Amino acid sequence: MFADLRARARERLEPAHWDYFEGGAGDERTMRANTGAFDRVRLLPRVLRATGPRDLRTTLFGTELAAPVLVAPTAFHRLAHPDGEVATARGTADAGTVLVVSMAATTPVEAIAAAGGPWWFQLYLQPDRGFTAALVRRVEAAGCRALVVTVDSPVFGRRERDQRNRFHDLPPGLACENMRDETGAVRDIAMDAGLGWEGIAWLRGITGLPILLKGVLHPADAELAVEHGVRGLLVSNHGGRQLDGAIAAIDALPAVAEAVGGRLPVLVDGGVRRGADVVAALALGADAVLVGRPVLWGLAAGGAEGVRQVLALLVDDLDRALALVGARTPAGCTPDLVAVR
Ligand SMILES: Cc1cc2nc3c(=O)[nH]c(=O)nc-3n(C[C@H](O)[C@H](O)[C@H](O)COP(=O)(O)O)c2cc1C
Repeated sequence: MFADLRARARERLEPAHWDYFEGGAGDERTMRANTGAFDRVRLLPRVLRATGPRDLRTTLFGTELAAPVLVAPTAFHRLAHPDGEVATARGTADAGTVLVVSMAATTPVEAIAAAGGPWWFQLYLQPDRGFTAALVRRVEAAGCRALVVTVDSPVFGRRERDQRNRFHDLPPGLACENMRDETGAVRDIAMDAGLGWEGIAWLRGITGLPILLKGVLHPADAELAVEHGVRGLLVSNHGGRQLDGAIAAIDALPAVAEAVGGRLPVLVDGGVRRGADVVAALALGADAVLVGRPVLWGLAAGGAEGVRQVLALLVDDLDRALALVGARTPAGCTPDLVAVR
């Protein structure tokens, strides 16, 4: 479905930048497992359900989305296209869904917000709590609707493509614009192996925004997240870019959804490429999915229009898949519709 856009993106990007966007950690086993696990799923459709036109709308934290498909936080969009995150935000707004802005965005959040669509902000809690608090104030003021704390990154994954390409720094003129401190200097994003649940409690104490945790795979952590007042979970292995050898996202989903038992929205990302993948994720307990790399392909291939096109293709494919499994709404994707996983 995305083959042409992906090919065009590859042509347009420098090989080292393509590898940065496309690659995973280690031998990329987990990255392949994400799509491989969806490839193995077999749906068990119902017939004669008189679904009529489908209704894909989904509400998360008070925001209505056109479909249960959000844009995952990915870094460095100006490396993919000169319009960067502004283009991604426009394309996402046109598709009627939510953009999760990466902490490593190359555009200030105020400019992203000006594109007009709803957006959330992804955060790595920094050991410098003062800086983190100031950043939270900044994104709140700019209109952010939820915070997504990435918790699968106590250290950086071993990205061997980047090592081979010696890709370590952004080209001159590009920077992580939301990491500027009060002096205007850009800080490095710190990965913090010292982070524990008290960090989440601290964050809850300084903001009223809903907090989601991104990168939860173990059901015991899902239970702890509920106990710590987190408002949503994102089942994710970071697109296979952190622990190579980690379980595929869709394989981790059912146990997490069971542990949560409907107390919070559960989202999933990693390897979602088709409408049938979204149906499988919904049937296995997700309230919505996020897509990472396909959005980058759209962005690199065609800016805002490319992003809009990727999301429209996926949502159209989801609409068709819903009809074909006999469901009228996302909530109609029940576990019995998955025969093999
Ligand atoms: C190029 C790239 C950059 C990413 N940057 C971030 C990031 O800054 N923060 C984060 O939490 N996740 C980041 N991710 C992970 C995505 O949010 C998401 O978990 C993953 O891409 C989903 O898998 P998919 O690409 O197979 O759809 C990144 C992924 C890619 C491919």
